[in-house]
Amino acid sequence: MGVMTGKSGLVIGVANDRSYAWYIAKSLAAQGAKMMFTHLPGDKMARRVQLALDAMELEDKDPWLRPLDATNEDQIAEVFAEAAEAAGGKLDYLVHSIAFADRQFLEIGRFMQTTREAFLQAIEVSAYTLLSMSRAARPHMKGSGSILAMSYYGAEKVVPGYNVMGVAKATLEATCRYLALEMGRDGVRVNVISGGPLRTLSAMGVGGFGQMLDLVAERSPLGRNIEGTEVGDAAVWLLSDLGTGVTGQTIYVDSGYSIMGM
Ligand SMILES: NC(=O)c1ccc[n+]([C@@H]2O[C@H](COP(=O)([O-])OP(=O)(O)OC[C@H]3O[C@@H](n4cnc5c(N)ncnc54)[C@H](O)[C@@H]3O)[C@@H](O)[C@H]2O)c1
Repeated sequence: MGVMTGKSGLVIGVANDRSYAWYIAKSLAAQGAKMMFTHLPGDKMARRVQLALDAMELEDKDPWLRPLDATNEDQIAEVFAEAAEAAGGKLDYLVHSIAFADRQFLEIGRFMQTTREAFLQAIEVSAYTLLSMSRAARPHMKGSGSILAMSYYGAEKVVPGYNVMGVAKATLEATCRYLALEMGRDGVRVNVISGGPLRTLSAMGVGGFGQMLDLVAERSPLGRNIEGTEVGDAAVWLLSDLGTGVTGQTIYVDSGYSIMGM
């Protein structure tokens, strides 16, 4: 028995075994959660995510996995309805761990070059999808649910190189708060974890990423970088009934880096 025993939900954003979503799923599995997954459309993506799921060594050797491009709202509605049915009619939680921005604008000193198209795409994929997914999840949550998204400190402070992604994360965090208000009376909570830098596929596209890791190790109160597992375990708290009083929050799991003024 774990704190997630009897709960079923969707984990969106596993790309490989280094993804934040992978660590979240690992922690959820350790607490007894039933999980359903999606991958970006295409055979190559399907194989890559399947390999990552195999590496999770889940009890369920054949976890539910469907293609989903989060910019396609009809597909979101279909996939969520199918997932709810597979879960016996109710979704208890949703993990939104996706983001995208054209990496040519994630270079130090290139924020002002961001095109309209790149700006809107970053916000659409990285922030608007939290709204569209929450809307699709609500009818299946039926009285209780917990939704979680992933952010980064560059939403709040200027992190050179994070650029348009920082703007998208600020939008994501504000979206979380407005959703929390409109979903709270239905018993649905919405929170964000602001995670420390972690070497993932997406992170590799951010200019100056190595420096972010070095600064956290050097200046954070814990004097080290965060482990993916630590974000996974914090996610369990927010997604489980241990977190029933918490909604609309951005919780930092960053070795304490964000409290520092110097
Ligand atoms: N790695 C870090 O340092 C860090 C720090 C804080 C927050 N985050 C956030 O964590 C989340 C997960 O990123 P990650 O670092 O694990 O990288 P990742 O590359 O492993 O995961 C990003 C995921 O986004 C998915 N994605 C992109 N566009 C999509 C679309 N249109 N439809 C569906 N899925 C789409 C990708 O398929 C991938 O699974 C992101 O929101 C990211 O911004 C990452």
